[in-house]
Amino acid sequence: MKLPVLAAALLVALPLTAQIRKAKTQVPPIVVPPAVERQVVAVETDNSALVLLVEENGQVFTAHYGPRVEAPEQFIGARGKGEDYNVCDGLAYPATGGRFVGEPALQVKYADGTHNTELSFTGTTTTQRGNCISTEVQLLDYVTQLQVKLVYDAYPREDVIAQHVEILNGGKKPVELLNYASAALYVDADEYLLTHFWGAWAAEMQLEHERLGHDMKVIESRRGVQATQGNNPSFLLSLNTSDFSETSGEVIAGALAWSGNFRLSFDRDSGGRLSILGGISPFASAYPLGAGERFITPEMIFTWSANGAGGASRNLHRWARQYSVYDGGNVNPTLLNSWEGAYFNFTTETLLRMMDDAAGMGLEMFVLDDGWFGNKFPRNGDKAGLGDWEVNSAKLPEGIEYLASYAHSKGLKFGIWIEPEMVNPQSELAHAHMDWVVQSPGREVYQGRNQWVLDLSNPAVQDFVFGIFDRTMQLAPGIDYIKWDCNRVIQSFGSPYLGTEQDRFFVEYCQGLYSVMQRIRDKYPRVMIQCCSSGGGRVDYGALRYCNEIWTSDNTDALSRASIQYATSLIYPACVMASHVSAVPNHQTGNVTPLKFRFDMACSGRLGMELQPRTLSADEKALAQRCIGSYKAYRDLVFSGDLYRLASPCDGSYYGLMYVSPDRSRAVVFTYCLQYESRNVGGKVFRLQGLDPARTYQVVEQNVDRSCWWGNGQTFTGDFLMGGGFNPRLPQLYSSAVFVLEAQ
Ligand code: DGJ
Repeated sequence: MKLPVLAAALLVALPLTAQIRKAKTQVPPIVVPPAVERQVVAVETDNSALVLLVEENGQVFTAHYGPRVEAPEQFIGARGKGEDYNVCDGLAYPATGGRFVGEPALQVKYADGTHNTELSFTGTTTTQRGNCISTEVQLLDYVTQLQVKLVYDAYPREDVIAQHVEILNGGKKPVELLNYASAALYVDADEYLLTHFWGAWAAEMQLEHERLGHDMKVIESRRGVQATQGNNPSFLLSLNTSDFSETSGEVIAGALAWSGNFRLSFDRDSGGRLSILGGISPFASAYPLGAGERFITPEMIFTWSANGAGGASRNLHRWARQYSVYDGGNVNPTLLNSWEGAYFNFTTETLLRMMDDAAGMGLEMFVLDDGWFGNKFPRNGDKAGLGDWEVNSAKLPEGIEYLASYAHSKGLKFGIWIEPEMVNPQSELAHAHMDWVVQSPGREVYQGRNQWVLDLSNPAVQDFVFGIFDRTMQLAPGIDYIKWDCNRVIQSFGSPYLGTEQDRFFVEYCQGLYSVMQRIRDKYPRVMIQCCSSGGGRVDYGALRYCNEIWTSDNTDALSRASIQYATSLIYPACVMASHVSAVPNHQTGNVTPLKFRFDMACSGRLGMELQPRTLSADEKALAQRCIGSYKAYRDLVFSGDLYRLASPCDGSYYGLMYVSPDRSRAVVFTYCLQYESRNVGGKVFRLQGLDPARTYQVVEQNVDRSCWWGNGQTFTGDFLMGGGFNPRLPQLYSSAVFVLEAQ
């Protein structure tokens, strides 16, 4: 056969070629979005502004996030350094598709297999709800009819902007959301110092400062639950510096309000600009969206401050107390928790005597921790009983009502522990409802702390979990406080309920949790809820919408707590930070610290005790009583004052912090020595902050007969105290001192 003939034969035989030809004839016309008027959309707070620039072609860019600019429309026409239509950097919500080739906030897979989305501006609206000014930017993909609404809620006084996104499938066929970040920010600085938090159980919220290079930095959790025990979904970004400063320089802080898998990314482009994305982790979560369906992302909260990390933290704290934490800023009671004092080993008598001691020392609540439930499979250790939430009649024959009313008769509130998302294989629940357990067909259902996770994506499980809370509340009239624990991560994930839609699992687990929490709050608005999760495992602004406080860490060693609480305070307010005085040697670290040091550390958050008070001597009980008494007198400052960090426990031998009342008339100062320095060094000068320089303050050390500061009891001007005059002697390892300042 001659060659041309062969070629022709091959062409005829190749069906692919024919398909391509056929497809060519079906190419749809190119859709050109209508031109729009060039304009800016400014989202403003008292001191900051996020300025978006709408171009004529409908693309929306971030022109500015930083100090407030009085006439933001001046940004029209000024894309400046960021102007590069060939790569499309700086989009306000970058979507995979068009000219954009970077890390997407949004990636959608359409029914025809394509991944291209190009969002065009269709309009913007601004509304006011109370103190919040909400700006919506509406975007549309004219080809696929995907609608995206960028929502920016600005809190002017707190300089906070909370972003979220609503994605509506306006097309006729289902799509899959592969990436669906809550927010995108684009900033331009010469240098970026990223401060973020990593950790592990009993060592949560470890601080790391990192200069960002040109590679992508990702902070992620794929743990499903206990999402924050490793990384926390939050960060601070110091601009134009490689030094972390509490007091000066531009800092952006961000936090995602989500208790499930999350992802924050920081991508510095070749021009030096930084793209920041934050949202739900796309890991195994290609979220399906049917025609007409909508997905609403969680909120990503941002603040900008020109006053260093301290300014950024205070903005977040003020916002959180006012708008985010459940009953934020309210004083939560001091308490004795039974866990480290009794573990699983108690009787009614044990608990009554603990209550006597708690009341005697002036505490205000008793919390019965793990171990009170399960009969067929009694909860006498962590191997059995989870899931069977009836009172263990062998241990507590008189029931919970008896305990609660005894507590109330002593003037104590009463709280109780539950871990409703979990089940031990050794439980009646596991035998009855294996179909409620998170699992993957045909694979081992791995245990963590001898327990499995219940599948909260299943509405029946949501009802069950709500029922646990509801029934626990009925165990006694006037249950004041529930400690909600969650002690393992999700592994070998899968939901028997979701069938082939397993991609929904991680998202719908967390949504299921929130819907249960909402039902709880609708029915029990006044009960206090502690978000525990092994300590530190669920520290995020999503859970805090329903919870009054967090259990900061299972590590109760006051030395370890210095750095954990310090780092937590960078993002979260002190009113949520539960902090307990426990026994020595510490049960986690073995460390031995003085009782006063333990109190002085715990008093910088929500004070509690977690030990068997019987083991305290009379002198120790007297000191406890004294510390608890003085705490009650100044704790309003801890719960609602402004925090100033004076010295970092991560940087040197001393740690110091203070809370100042909003009117600057009162303050409480906490100082600690964490590492011995030669006495010849002369101690530490703490420069106080946040006081009124012109006012005079009386300074009184708490809980001592002889003060460690030469000026104790005297009055000093604010400028003296802030200018270097305050140098309490903290001569030894674990020396500590607490001072109350009152303006005269
Ligand atoms: C972990 C919590 O963090 C502890 O405080 C305690 O409640 C135990 N679980 C109980 O099992």
